[in-house]
Amino acid sequence: MELGLAGKVAIVTGGSKGIGRATALGLIAEGASVLICARGQAALDEVVAAAGAGAHGRLETCVADLTDGAAIRQVVTRCVDLFDRIDILVNNAGSARVGEFLKLDDQAWLDDWQLKFFGYVRMAREVLPQMERKGGGVIINIIGAAALNPRHSYMIGGAANAALNHFTKALADEGGKLGVRVVGINPGPILTERLLKMRTGLMPSAAAADEAFRKMTPLGRVGKATEVADLVLFLASDRAGFIHGANITIDGGYTQGLMG
Ligand SMILES: NC(=O)c1ccc[n+]([C@@H]2O[C@H](COP(=O)([O-])OP(=O)(O)OC[C@H]3O[C@@H](n4cnc5c(N)ncnc54)[C@H](OP(=O)(O)O)[C@@H]3O)[C@@H](O)[C@H]2O)c1
Repeated sequence: MELGLAGKVAIVTGGSKGIGRATALGLIAEGASVLICARGQAALDEVVAAAGAGAHGRLETCVADLTDGAAIRQVVTRCVDLFDRIDILVNNAGSARVGEFLKLDDQAWLDDWQLKFFGYVRMAREVLPQMERKGGGVIINIIGAAALNPRHSYMIGGAANAALNHFTKALADEGGKLGVRVVGINPGPILTERLLKMRTGLMPSAAAADEAFRKMTPLGRVGKATEVADLVLFLASDRAGFIHGANITIDGGYTQGLMG
């Protein structure tokens, strides 16, 4: 399917690993230019090396801690300085800790929401005027199926995800007026560094973690970062031009409810 992404300009937050990395490499392969940001330069450099000299689009990097509003503004300024436009924003950098409710204090909640909730809100607020300036764009929020599957052990992340599902729908009303489509993606378990860390922290051995992964979805496996990236690429393209204000689940059947 021709996606028509060649020549588009994208920011992918948390583009150095996992879903963000796969998305950035997918966009580059389609001929888009991409600015990826994360805290660690080494992993960003590794993505540039993985894209290789034969990459169709241009790949640039920016070190930034997106818990900081000033750093978010710098990422957006860098992208505009480099490319004079932003067509696609993939809000992806996020993580939240697992833990028992009574052991998580205010600071734990505030710290994790700083990235996963406020990072997305702030980035969208900076990028929207840039998209409006050029006549439109697409904002894709990588959220999480925990929004639809409340668990006592993952309340901080689950609640942030539920809030971001709401944010996506509400922002779509605003974005629609400016020619900006807004879409959310709720991945279930996807095999990235983050999932490995979360699982191995809870499981007694790698074999036990593998077995737990098999049991996590009706498909008998966890997802691949490239499977989420393929969905992002489609949603970023004009082929998905009528998908707006929707939160789309990609979870191998993990979510049991009717709404997802
Ligand atoms: N994997 C899953 O099973 C799963 C399921 C549901 C939802 N999700 C969501 O999908 C998104 C991507 O997850 P993933 O599994 O691909 O994560 P990952 O493999 O851990 O990658 C996270 C990326 O975000 C960057 N990052 C982390 N903290 C940051 C900060 N403060 N400022 C800037 N960048 C930061 C990391 O680089 P640095 O560490 O160098 O900063 C890295 O590039 C997250 O929002 C996650 O909640 C994932």
